[in-house]
Amino acid sequence: MDKFVIKGPSKVKGTVDISGSKNASLPILAASILFDESVEINNLPKVKDIDTMLLLIQSLGFKIKKNKKKNSVKIIKTKNIHTFAPYSLVKTMRAGILVLGPLVTKFKKAKTSLPGGCLIGARPINYHLNALEKLGMVYKIEKGYVHASSHSNLKGAKIIFPKISVGATENAILASVLASGKTILKNCAIEPEIKHDLTNFLNKAGAKVTWTGKRTVEIIGVKSLKKISYTVMGDRIECGTFCVVATISQGNLKIKGFDAKLIKTELNLLKRVGAKIKTYKNLISIIGPKKIKNIKLIETKEYDGFPTDLQAQFMSLLCKANGKSIISESIFENRFMHVAELRRLGAKITIKNNKANIFGNTNFQGAELMSSDLRASVALVLASIVANGTSVINRIYHLDRGYESIEKKLSKIGVDIKRVS
Ligand code: EPZ
Repeated sequence: MDKFVIKGPSKVKGTVDISGSKNASLPILAASILFDESVEINNLPKVKDIDTMLLLIQSLGFKIKKNKKKNSVKIIKTKNIHTFAPYSLVKTMRAGILVLGPLVTKFKKAKTSLPGGCLIGARPINYHLNALEKLGMVYKIEKGYVHASSHSNLKGAKIIFPKISVGATENAILASVLASGKTILKNCAIEPEIKHDLTNFLNKAGAKVTWTGKRTVEIIGVKSLKKISYTVMGDRIECGTFCVVATISQGNLKIKGFDAKLIKTELNLLKRVGAKIKTYKNLISIIGPKKIKNIKLIETKEYDGFPTDLQAQFMSLLCKANGKSIISESIFENRFMHVAELRRLGAKITIKNNKANIFGNTNFQGAELMSSDLRASVALVLASIVANGTSVINRIYHLDRGYESIEKKLSKIGVDIKRVS
């Protein structure tokens, strides 16, 4: 298993190009199941989760043509499509459940593995299943699989999500695109990956997806979708992560390939800790402060609140602040796996229920560390960059799931980091 060896401390300087968005690409790849014609998707990030989703779509019988240079793929429907999404693929990449809605609305049946839990939480799919049931899907759960079908075309319905869920919103939109009649979804997740990218992708192909309220979307079912080529947006969490890299290391970074308007909440927080930030079209210029100020309380919220996917990264940053901060994690039940590892680097953090008290003024000392989940792992990289001495981060396959060539991007801006197999 690969590991990273990082020698700190370093101050980053230079330019970073943000890759395509993992969390926009996954539902867009799942949406390719809805098409009879070929679909070309560009700017896909070269990360493990995308490879897994492509393997899943291929296993359903679609042909995948990769154009490595342009980070793009062409997905072509064949004559022998089947509707089985195996545990072996879905267990490592929970977003595999996003093929359920498209398979049932297009092929009237599906057998998809339950995603299974992970370190950050149980990851149930009840909101997905309830919404699809309201559209006419019938299902039973047996031996870890959802056995789903619909006697005829799914029918448009009015659905109010009991809780805001990214995946359930995506699954319901995808299932409604080819349903008969109008679907109204209320209390939707409104991440840019959904409200901008997935919506624009589907409408460019002839779907009728209209956002009529902050969290309300209307979908008028259509008969079919037409052949398109689409370029995916930049990765919001990778961009936020590199903004933290500059802030924690008194760095000076130009971050290209992401629209700063979509991460206003995060950038305002970084300004509060002392970062100097200028934003232009698709460019963020950020200078880290000599003294990092603490923040009394940060609470993770659904978009456009502070994202849970940047919680671990901000915890590493606030360990360096000149006072106590509190982070409250309200989205997942167990997303503090990075705390024990940050303590190994010298952090002073206590946890009570879903709140972490970060006492700040930490001088990280290099240590041997263990990755646990995608974002916790990158938090360890951030802390190691500014730690005194050498850190070794094990099991970085977690990182490879969601960050494209992160060690190359970090080396290019002055971090002493090596991947060791
Ligand atoms: C998406 O996961 C993201 N993944 C996650 O990013 C992100 O952390 C999460 O949204 C929240 O923003 C992708 O987009 C591929 P949810 P998802 O449904 O859709 C509970 C990363 O690092 N819930 O919004 O699974 C759930 O357990 C990943 O890129 C139910 O109870 O998140 C959680 O507590 C990690 N029942 C909360 O809702 C359901 O049916 C939010 O989950 C669905 C969700």
